[in-house]
Amino acid sequence: MIETLFDNDLITPISYIGSTVLFILGLKLLGSPVTARKGNLLASVAMLVAVLTTLIDKTSISLNLILTGVLIGSVIGAILARMVKMTAMPQLVAAFNGFGGAASAFIAISQYFYYSSADESTIPITIVISIMLGSIIGLITFSGSMIAFGKLQDILPGQPIKLPFQNSVSTILVLVTLSLAMYLVGVDLDTNIFILFIILSLLLGILLVNPIGGADMPVVISLLNSYSGLAAAAAGFVVGNIILIVAGALVGAAGLILTQIMTRAMHRSIWNVIFGTFGGSADSQANTGDSIGERPVRRGEVDDIAMMLSYAKTIVIVPGYGLAVAQAQHQIREISDLLEKRGAEIKYAIHPVAGRMPGHMNVLLAEADVPYTKLYDLDEINESFSSTEVAIVVGANDVTNPAARDEPTSPIYGMPILNVDQAKQVVVIKRSLSPGFAGIDNDLFYAQNTTMLFADAKVAITELSRAIQES
Ligand code: TAP
Repeated sequence: MIETLFDNDLITPISYIGSTVLFILGLKLLGSPVTARKGNLLASVAMLVAVLTTLIDKTSISLNLILTGVLIGSVIGAILARMVKMTAMPQLVAAFNGFGGAASAFIAISQYFYYSSADESTIPITIVISIMLGSIIGLITFSGSMIAFGKLQDILPGQPIKLPFQNSVSTILVLVTLSLAMYLVGVDLDTNIFILFIILSLLLGILLVNPIGGADMPVVISLLNSYSGLAAAAAGFVVGNIILIVAGALVGAAGLILTQIMTRAMHRSIWNVIFGTFGGSADSQANTGDSIGERPVRRGEVDDIAMMLSYAKTIVIVPGYGLAVAQAQHQIREISDLLEKRGAEIKYAIHPVAGRMPGHMNVLLAEADVPYTKLYDLDEINESFSSTEVAIVVGANDVTNPAARDEPTSPIYGMPILNVDQAKQVVVIKRSLSPGFAGIDNDLFYAQNTTMLFADAKVAITELSRAIQES
């Protein structure tokens, strides 16, 4: 009955247009934490409609094969989603991007072998171009994402690895690979050349990500996410599937926008990320200095800090990656409630690249039911630090480093920071003076108005809450 319905030529395009509209509305709603859940739901419904339409429409594909794939994928996805820690999310996203790229490349490659056995004069040139694009972008995404995964998972060295003449070698490789693609498109679908094209594409992905490391990795992952979308769009052209083209283009565009937001928040250009080295390079290490731990810091005791907080009327909490590692979001919420009951005004300052992925802090705080209205972006909060009595920095480091604002020789110079040092008192909770992701020392720790509380964030906040209750 349903299949008869789909015999009508109009039903498939109408369903695809419906899911396209839902995808776009979903993305729009994902732009605000207040509407994000609804956006996610809409996008999921859109995907369901798109998948069902494709399943019913494409009768040439074996339903059993598809359902087996869906089952295996769903089981692996569900297990991963439950097992993976929030702090390991970047490498999970890297793996997902890689598999997405590989899936698109497989579609393009299978279509190559399908068409190469046919009469070449009958193959539309647009299809051959799409096959080349789907293969090269998909394969670069796959091998690049696997390297990114290895670096983030500590299977491979995390620092940038730049080979001698890296940029020249990469440029030559790009030109050779593109020439092979042009030969395949314009002259002959030669299988040996196509296999060489596949190998060089894989090599390009490795060469793209290998020289990148440290604080730039999340940017690369966002870029690879965008590539995976473009590869899917190219695969959509190959098999003539409108919804794959639209969904791929949306992922591609969203990934590019996110990459741009992240590079802007780190004050870096995308070219600088791809062709420069940062986070572990000789230059960036220069400033980590042997000075870490050599300058005197003011160490605080839990009871003294609890007393300071109990009397403060304006408090800004600055969460960072360490809060996520310690899983201290619920404890932060509890201490905020406690201090609010004592008459303090509590705000949370959210830096766009705090943590290890976009929105990391928002997700953590939402998990602990911290109201969105208490979260302030960098631009909204920065002016209020000078009138804030106490700023509590919980497991954040680079995003509060005044060197980014004041020290032109610093590797993070120009990155917008939260002006925490301008608060009357600053409490920094972390376990040691170790540097953050960028690998550089933080002058904030040595400032006159800073008190360091060296402890795990969860333990420290729990202790502080207890001391405040007892005071
Ligand atoms: P970081 O600068 O990486 O500092 C995190 C700090 O947390 C560390 O110094 C660490 O010090 C502390 N820490 C770790 N475990 C802890 C625990 N259990 N309890 C308490 N503290 C703990 O983090 P940030 O300030 O959030 O900055 C984010 C960094 O990531 C920036 O460099 C940014 O450029 C980079 N980055 C982020 C993104 C996105 S999208 N979020 C994208 C690109 C780059 P101890 O070891 O001494 O405890």
